[in-house]
Amino acid sequence: MTHDTLSRRGLLTAASATLALAGCAKVAAPPTGRLTEIRAGNRPLTLTAAPHTLNIGHDSVPAWVYREQPLPVLRLKQGEEVQVTLANALGEHTSIHWHGIRGPNAMDGVPYLTQAPVQPGAHFAYRFTPPDTGTFFFHPHCNTAEQLGRGLVGALVVEDGVSFDDDVVLLIKDWRLAPDGGFLPFLTTAGASRAGSFGTVRTVNGIPSPKIAVPGKSQARLRLINTDSARICEIGVKGAQVIAIDGNAVTPFALDTWRLGPAMRLDLSLRVPASEPVEVIDYFSATPVTLATLLPSGSDDAPKPVAALEPTRFQEPDLAKGWQHTLELDASAAPAGYPDIPPVVLPDGRRIDLADSLCLAQGTFWALDGKSWPERDHRRLPPPLFTFARGESVVLTLSNETSRTHPIHIHGHTMKVLSADRLKRPVHRADTVLVLPNERVQVAFVADNPGNWMIHCHVIEHQETGMMGWFRVS
Ligand code: C2O
Ligand code: CU
Repeated sequence: MTHDTLSRRGLLTAASATLALAGCAKVAAPPTGRLTEIRAGNRPLTLTAAPHTLNIGHDSVPAWVYREQPLPVLRLKQGEEVQVTLANALGEHTSIHWHGIRGPNAMDGVPYLTQAPVQPGAHFAYRFTPPDTGTFFFHPHCNTAEQLGRGLVGALVVEDGVSFDDDVVLLIKDWRLAPDGGFLPFLTTAGASRAGSFGTVRTVNGIPSPKIAVPGKSQARLRLINTDSARICEIGVKGAQVIAIDGNAVTPFALDTWRLGPAMRLDLSLRVPASEPVEVIDYFSATPVTLATLLPSGSDDAPKPVAALEPTRFQEPDLAKGWQHTLELDASAAPAGYPDIPPVVLPDGRRIDLADSLCLAQGTFWALDGKSWPERDHRRLPPPLFTFARGESVVLTLSNETSRTHPIHIHGHTMKVLSADRLKRPVHRADTVLVLPNERVQVAFVADNPGNWMIHCHVIEHQETGMMGWFRVS
């Protein structure tokens, strides 16, 4: 096991100024607070999932990471190919799911559904050319609460050629650490039956509230990625414009705040002041939290005029003739209002949380259309929720019948988010969409990517206790 300093210096072995990556060019050390970026287009790269001790405020956090470079940022140009070999040095099987990529089904990284699980000691070669530009990420799709929770995650940026003075990836992730630096349980009945188990140490790029130098008076692009398993953020950055959602260009609009659930991404364009620091703030809870601070240094007197991003080309779903369905986000085998059943108080004063014990007893709880995924792993596949003919338009009303918010993600396709009855947002494209308690959100897409695709909540404990299904495009 090697030992990294993942302190304020950034996620980098202190002694090394360059990193040798298997089969890959040397990569320069990143400036403070930034992740190491790897040119990953058209070149073979190995990512070894392995135990690896990190320093996240604690110098002995027993993380699991892609050990060539913890929390890697893979960058490629549109049209270039990803050639990543996943090597498994863990004691259990793993995989890589390329979140948001409309790629070939065989490369989607879902054990038992799209590939065999990558067993300890085994390899799997992922090769695909992402069709769309944008900000994406990747993570395992098995024992995800633990594997993602321990640090198996990275960013994937498909560049669009629009150049900014600076381009900063901000990978948001909390860590569930006990005071001794060990991990707290990744899946708890209390968390699974409510909003998820939150981390105790909040980080951006693996650092608690990093300070990141950016050129003063420049035009910067910020790529925020919420890779957390549970936490919903409400992102505010003074003076920023939203330019893309889940990697998809939007007509720029001023950022007031944007609710960024697990797996969601937000690209911002920011005119950096001459010297005044700019904070990236999470306003979700009553007391706002500064996630990161951008520190202008030096000054760029001629910020680049920034061209508009090209909108991604999607086939327009046919809303009138498409298949219409209301997909209920609910809970199975439990009374209505299940998550909010008041606890029973016993004569001796002990409180029994019914939600907890039901969840524990059944192993499943959350559901899509009343059907809970049968187990945490994917080994026992239930029948598909839907089967679509290739090219069919699908119009879904995601109807949240529960008292929790669910970020609903579909694989291999990008939804057009049409309307919602609680949280206001412009019509946009997304692969993950938040559905508030008792909210109905209308989405549509063309089922144009053949294969077997997952649909699930990205609060990982909800996913792993039932809110997951799959559909087939034939
Ligand atoms: Cu990022 Cu099936 O998930
Ligand atoms: Cu959920």
